[in-house]
Amino acid sequence: MVRNDALNVALDAGENPYLMGGYAPVDTEIVAEDLQVIGEIPSDLNGLYVRNGPNPKYKTEGRYHWFDGDGMLHAIHLRDGTATYRNRWIRTDGLGADEAANQALWRGVAEQRTHNPDDGSRLRLKDTANTDVLFHNGNLIAMWYLAGEPYRVDPMTLETLGKEDWQGTRQSCVSAHAKVDQHTGEFLFFDYGPVPPYMSYGVVSPDGVVRHFTPVELPGARMPHDMAITERYSILMDLPLVVDPESAKEGRHALLFMRDTPARFGVIPRYGAGTEIRWFDAEPCYIYHTVNAYEDGDEIVMDVCRFRPPGPAPVPLTGPLASILNYLRLDAFLYRYRFNLVTGETTETPLDERNTEFPMIDAALIGRQNRYTYNVSINNDFTMYFDGIVKYDMERGTDERYEFGPGRYGSEAPFARRPGARAEDDGYLMSFVYDAAEDRSELVILDAATPSDGPVGRVLLPQRVPNGFHACWVPEDQLDAARIRA
Ligand SMILES: [Fe+2]
Repeated sequence: MVRNDALNVALDAGENPYLMGGYAPVDTEIVAEDLQVIGEIPSDLNGLYVRNGPNPKYKTEGRYHWFDGDGMLHAIHLRDGTATYRNRWIRTDGLGADEAANQALWRGVAEQRTHNPDDGSRLRLKDTANTDVLFHNGNLIAMWYLAGEPYRVDPMTLETLGKEDWQGTRQSCVSAHAKVDQHTGEFLFFDYGPVPPYMSYGVVSPDGVVRHFTPVELPGARMPHDMAITERYSILMDLPLVVDPESAKEGRHALLFMRDTPARFGVIPRYGAGTEIRWFDAEPCYIYHTVNAYEDGDEIVMDVCRFRPPGPAPVPLTGPLASILNYLRLDAFLYRYRFNLVTGETTETPLDERNTEFPMIDAALIGRQNRYTYNVSINNDFTMYFDGIVKYDMERGTDERYEFGPGRYGSEAPFARRPGARAEDDGYLMSFVYDAAEDRSELVILDAATPSDGPVGRVLLPQRVPNGFHACWVPEDQLDAARIRA
């Protein structure tokens, strides 16, 4: 982990590394066709790779946190060996208000919220929809990690169609990391917030109507980030990372990790009431992302990327951004929970030691047993870099790695199943990769069966894709179905 000279100079000058280099926002929305390809775009790889992430339109007052920026979607549509790239901001209410004022009206999570417009939202923060994106009922749904309004986006044009209210049946906000069960077409989500019951859970039908909604009572305000589903259950999290009540009284947003408080995982039948939830205690921990969950006899298996509590930074940081930079050090390792529905016992097993995160599996297996997960490997310097992809074989306990190369950093890499696939890894992985030396981005396509062989195709993009968060793959037949319906 070498201290980067350019970043060092910038930090000393008070600049924010999360607004520089591969993190710097872009200020144009473009459509680009007939893109240069090195290698080939496989003819059986047809569909849409779309990724969400922060891209602040205006400079904000105070300290900028990477999670603050306005959501922007970057999509590449692959069809018959050709590629079309498109990027669009998500037209949130907050972005609209900023544009009307021609300036940033909100400050970020690291600053006092009392400066922010009092728009009636429960957090008094700008709801950016910048975190996650899923395809459901013919549209993309963009979601925010602090639980906000889900925004509906046209998958082909990336135009924001409005807030998704599920035909008037939505009763809550929606957190990032809802799940789509591709076998039933249902969309399962949770909401969380600062007031009792602190969490709720719901199920949306394949045609976009909330069919089930229930409060889930927690002991206090928490910061859950993800959930998991099986064929019959959903798993919700009560982790001992809490919103510090003292800071909240002062209008600040600070988090407190309670080292002696067990983590709790709540197993609820898919259409169960909040009162039916069964809580399983586990060692205190924090988790950003689940890999998957599934039923195995009397047990539920849930694989996650379990956060390692931060140790001393390799280079002690000082200055106003130190706490933000330290907080953003993502360090997690693959970990398995088994929840026994008969005995109520929890079993915990570490599966690897390396720092890997942003797990992706074949989306058709969400809630069913998966053999493979494709994670990005994390290199924490001043900022977080995704320097490669690790493919884990959970059946054999082996793994295989592809490194993007010196100065090249990737994005979350969804799996695209090959039509007629005969094996779980018969398909492709896609990642937007930023090349720091050339200050340029490209789409890298890997064969998921043999990722360490390197790209089968690289699509050079005319515009940099800033480092970002979550992505999904929408197969062409699902896009076709959406077009026919429209
Ligand atoms: Fe996330």
